[in-house]
Amino acid sequence: MKKIAVLTSGGDSPGMNACMRAVVRTATYNNIEVMGIMHGYSGMIGNEFIPLGAKSVANIIHRGGTILKTARSKKFLTIDGQQKALENILKHAIDGLVVIGGDGTFRGALEFSKICSVPMVGCPGTIDNDLIGTDFTIGYDTAINTVVEAVDKIRDTAESHDRLFFVEVMGRDAGLIALRSGIGVGAECILMPETKTDVEDLIKRLKGGRKNKSSKIIIVAEGDEAGDAFAIAEKVKKQLPDFDTRVTVLGHIQRGGNPTAMDRVNSSRMGFAAVEALMAGKTGVMVGIINKKIAYTPFENAVKHTQRLDPDLLRMLEILSL
Ligand code: F6P
Repeated sequence: MKKIAVLTSGGDSPGMNACMRAVVRTATYNNIEVMGIMHGYSGMIGNEFIPLGAKSVANIIHRGGTILKTARSKKFLTIDGQQKALENILKHAIDGLVVIGGDGTFRGALEFSKICSVPMVGCPGTIDNDLIGTDFTIGYDTAINTVVEAVDKIRDTAESHDRLFFVEVMGRDAGLIALRSGIGVGAECILMPETKTDVEDLIKRLKGGRKNKSSKIIIVAEGDEAGDAFAIAEKVKKQLPDFDTRVTVLGHIQRGGNPTAMDRVNSSRMGFAAVEALMAGKTGVMVGIINKKIAYTPFENAVKHTQRLDPDLLRMLEILSL
């Protein structure tokens, strides 16, 4: 292996820079040249290749976002787009590719591998944690810490005004951000797409809850089947007009910020392992960390959607949120 390329794709996540830095430094150490591809698969089609060296990734380990920029490329889903991407990969004599991204990124890599025989290894970069094959994705820990910090602030004002808050968090169709951050803030209830949401039941719980509780926080995962935080709050307000109710949608603050120490270390381990995997002849796999050990999962299994919610966490939540 003489020359590899690295890209970030899909929604950015804190730790992508740390991962990319590890890829570049590990390759350089092993005398492998590295090209960065700007704007993910779009840049692969548009020939946005730039040379990267150990120095070009200095002082980025602590930065959120991705210096390689990112995109969700519709064109890459077409055969025409993929052919153009392949021409550029061949033009730059790339003989290994590291893709850092989420579900869509690995689906793209899978499709591309039908026409491109260059080995490809993935690193799981998404705040959603919705991939099989790793305990934590790059950016998840930072995102849940961001949510916890924000909701702690909401709790202060909710407590002062005796209010009920519905706080909507990201996660697309997965509830893993909601679950961990909700446990972390001591939420009264967490609504997630993986568990059945019954608004009538929620209303009963709110009515019958501990009477001396002054504030109540309901975390709503954006993909919940009962609707968004505004829709659910509306239904609740109709039946509980005495509750002073507010809604906060945390939005994209969850995707930014300096990565936590855990995200920096995990990202570095995964970027390092991705290059070693390419050197060992692996392809079509996502690098992950399971029980503290590096693990490789074929792309097609990694994207088989969401990790099951941990039943022990759910059982504990029922008891602690009373
Ligand atoms: O996949 C990451 C994510 O932040 C999801 O949680 C969210 O649904 C989506 O991306 C938002 O995407 P965009 O930034 O394109 O609005």
